[in-house]
Amino acid sequence: MFGLGPVGLVTAVCFARRGNQVVGIDPDRDRLEKIRRAEAPFFEPKLKEYLTDTIARGAFSVADDSSVNMRSDLAYIAVGTPSSEDGSIDLTYVKNAAVAIGQSIRESTQYQLVVVKSTVIPGTARTLVKPVLERESGKAAGKGFGLCSNPEFLREGNAVHDAEFPDRIVIGGEDVDAITRLENFYKEFHGETTPPVIRTTHESAELIKYANNAFLAMKVSYINTIANIAERTPNADVKAIAQGIGLDERIGSKFLNAGLGWGGSCFPKDLRALVRYSKSLHYAPELIEAAVASNENQKQRAIQLAKHALGSLVGKRIAILGLAFKPETDDMREAVSIPLVRSLLTEGANVVVYDPAAMRNARAFFRDTVTYARDLYGCLDEADCCIVVTEWHEFTTITPKMFLERMRCPVVIDGRRIYKADEFLRAGIRYSGIGLGPKAN
Ligand SMILES: NC(=O)c1ccc[n+]([C@@H]2O[C@H](COP(=O)([O-])OP(=O)(O)OC[C@H]3O[C@@H](n4cnc5c(N)ncnc54)[C@H](O)[C@@H]3O)[C@@H](O)[C@H]2O)c1
Repeated sequence: MFGLGPVGLVTAVCFARRGNQVVGIDPDRDRLEKIRRAEAPFFEPKLKEYLTDTIARGAFSVADDSSVNMRSDLAYIAVGTPSSEDGSIDLTYVKNAAVAIGQSIRESTQYQLVVVKSTVIPGTARTLVKPVLERESGKAAGKGFGLCSNPEFLREGNAVHDAEFPDRIVIGGEDVDAITRLENFYKEFHGETTPPVIRTTHESAELIKYANNAFLAMKVSYINTIANIAERTPNADVKAIAQGIGLDERIGSKFLNAGLGWGGSCFPKDLRALVRYSKSLHYAPELIEAAVASNENQKQRAIQLAKHALGSLVGKRIAILGLAFKPETDDMREAVSIPLVRSLLTEGANVVVYDPAAMRNARAFFRDTVTYARDLYGCLDEADCCIVVTEWHEFTTITPKMFLERMRCPVVIDGRRIYKADEFLRAGIRYSGIGLGPKAN
């Protein structure tokens, strides 16, 4: 497994859990040291347990380069594909991994199946990975080695479950034998719970991943758009609207939670890459561009609501509950909290932050510009306004009474709609929630 981020490491330990011998390769030595001690390098439910078990049994080990004997049946490329300045993806790590795999199979007589799991734009497997593998190994694709595109759909925060129980498996390639080998591997791995397998071309497989994430992001942006209309409509509530449309089977209820916008390690970079790729084909994907633009505006919605409640934010103590881009992760990549906190600081506010898992990662972004609360209650103490940015379960346990006792001024902006508006308003909280229209008779 090349690359031990959320995708590579979780996939590796899940494979190792069920009878496979897995070697994880990553140049990040700090990460490797942690893994060797069976410490999860990032927060992910169940990961620690799986690491401890697989390392203790010798089913999973790690190395910092592929000079370890690569007599493997499968070599996965699960390295990062970050955004470049212009929005396209940086394929350097994918290329480096392909070089390492190619070189490591040069002397081998064994057939090697290479699988691209990283999210890559259409054409990457065929025009980058394949020629690099052929050049470095001295072998021809389809003979000395096979190549498949196998995009990953797991969700951080639910990654172990998703790796063990995916809802579909997409395998792209041009070599029927390679596709069949990979399909058989998954059938053996998943047994009776094997989901539908989609066999297709490299390019369709690569595009499926982008189409999937763009759709989900657009769905969230869509309900946020409806939320903005609801906020201007007396007595309307986007939660009821989401429920009403979510029960339509053609729509479905997931990804209809209105909020402060989407962030994270995938949606922003994948949508940018898809727009960029599409434009390189002389087609402007207007719908996707609109989702990106409306999401940028949505991230600032809490600032507008805070100003509406408090007037100027200069010198105001603003409590931020939640920093990670979503609950059950410590991942801060492109989290909504980042532009939000920066805007609050620009407005002259004093910002105090708390997150159950992401405090350490947050320091890299905010350094000494904010106060880091020791716990949830410390965050609320003497605050003039509280903004819920990430819907951690812990935050749902705070009662209106607790807000009233702790805060200097009980202004609560529920950026993820986790509280019951009526209960909070009745208790005397100055509550505003995304997508909640004004009360009127
Ligand atoms: N994070 C997610 O939820 C998610 C979900 C689905 C798909 N993806 C995609 O999967 C890929 C991996 O995502 P991630 O979040 O795990 O990435 P990440 O950036 O968190 O981790 C990637 C790892 O690869 C390592 N690496 C870099 N070059 C390497 C090389 N030549 N050999 C071996 N390791 C190398 C890095 O040191 C790092 O530890 C990306 O393309 C991403 O878009 C991510």
